[in-house]
Amino acid sequence: MSVSLLEASDLTRNYQLDAAPVAALRGVSLKVERGDFIALTGPSGCGKSTLLQICGAMDRADGGELRLDGLEVKSLNDAALTRLRREKIGFVFQFFNLLPTLSVRENIAMPLLLAKTPEPDAFERAALLADRVGIAHRLDHLPAQISGGEAQRAALARAVIHRPGLLIADEPTGSLDSTNGRRVLNLLQELNQELGVAVLMATHDAGVASAAGKILAMKDGRMVEPA
Ligand SMILES: Nc1ncnc2c1ncn2[C@@H]1O[C@H](COP(=O)(O)OP(=O)(O)OP(=O)(O)O)[C@@H](O)[C@H]1O
Ligand SMILES: [Mg+2]
Repeated sequence: MSVSLLEASDLTRNYQLDAAPVAALRGVSLKVERGDFIALTGPSGCGKSTLLQICGAMDRADGGELRLDGLEVKSLNDAALTRLRREKIGFVFQFFNLLPTLSVRENIAMPLLLAKTPEPDAFERAALLADRVGIAHRLDHLPAQISGGEAQRAALARAVIHRPGLLIADEPTGSLDSTNGRRVLNLLQELNQELGVAVLMATHDAGVASAAGKILAMKDGRMVEPA
């Protein structure tokens, strides 16, 4: 049997604030297989973003185990973890997080440029993906010069340009109107199917979650049965 793309067991994460520590994750386990589309639901503050940041190697758990593509994350130093994140994972956030001084083309190409892909090749693939998500006519614009829906589609193109196995999306439709949210959700589904990229998406919107193949629910830092 092939190894899971992501396998987490009993993850814990405590945030240390001055007086009161916050137990954001209290023992969370999950598996993501290649090609999955999983929605992570639960009320505000239940730990969704904390879990996604750990699963995406942007943060480390305090306890438990996390394997990405079979690699035990605890055994990796920060440089190795950064490399793994850049090569194998794509991210989409609620507020797009495009770099404001770079063009849409440069933003989309950034994961390839960071991996030292020659600029003409990176820009060619950025243009292909921009076309795929319907923003080919916005490549020379700055992020401030495009709409929210266009910005999130640019962020989607950026998230998959380096062909990651796992795409992590934290409330990707959370700051869009319903039409643009639906469009981004459809694109997520299509990219999941066309590219085979597994998607792990946090949302508190049941309609958005229903687009996923599988729904997980959290409450108070733990997995619970979906409602
Ligand atoms: N950097 C931090 N320092 C201290 N506490 C934090 C930090 N980040 C999150 N928390 C706390 O950890 C808990 C989980 O937060 P998290 O952001 O993971 O929730 P969430 O499910 O993503 O919520 P939302 O739906 O509002 O985005 C909350 O109680 C939150 O206040
Ligand atoms: Mg969150």
